[in-house]
Amino acid sequence: MVWTRPRPRVPAGWRKEVERVLITEAELASRIRKMSREIEQEFKGHEMVVVSLLNGTVMFLADLIRNLSLPLRLDFIGVSSYGAGTESGELVFTKELRLDVRGRDVLLVDDILDTGKTLYRVLGKLKALKPRRIKTCVLLNKAARRVEADYVGFEIPDYFVVGYGLDFAERYRNLPFVGILYPHVYKQGCQKINPPSPRRGKHRQPAK
Ligand code: XMP
Repeated sequence: MVWTRPRPRVPAGWRKEVERVLITEAELASRIRKMSREIEQEFKGHEMVVVSLLNGTVMFLADLIRNLSLPLRLDFIGVSSYGAGTESGELVFTKELRLDVRGRDVLLVDDILDTGKTLYRVLGKLKALKPRRIKTCVLLNKAARRVEADYVGFEIPDYFVVGYGLDFAERYRNLPFVGILYPHVYKQGCQKINPPSPRRGKHRQPAK
């Protein structure tokens, strides 16, 4: 998606840390409603199991499923690509699936596709459980090469983004929009709490 319209200003309380609004609340709401319609078409007539990856999907998932007028069951997989004492980039499963998905229609929901490593690994895990079919749905895509999602909310450039569920060191998840974090925030401020992986450190600076 190419943003031609001027972006609204970052709300005053966030201006020191968030450089730019990338996707507004209204744009998120409108796109997610459309995605829900498409998903309804594809899954109608079947009860689906929505499997959502923790923690970044919280806001997206809530808005997506409240727009789905379909019978569904919901479960979560906890996965983190970095963690205390864990080498950067290594995936750690923090919560396993509890529902039985064998023979079921599954919608796998994630917040953002970056390298695609997370979705690829989780897809492999789910396929081994023999569902009838799996469709993937992500809010943001940074042009991952490893795997393509069936439903993508927004194509975004390679910036480190936060908000609307996405975090840096567990912060900023409560922003109602998706914004670009100032590099100085993730390079200095929170480094001791949760250092960004090398992948996260390479993100481009927004063009002025
Ligand atoms: P991969 O590379 O496995 O990355 O596709 C997916 C996971 O990495 C996190 N991620 C981000 N989190 N802002 C974030 O807040 C970002 O720009 C970003 N890029 C990747 C996220 O947890 C995602 O599920």
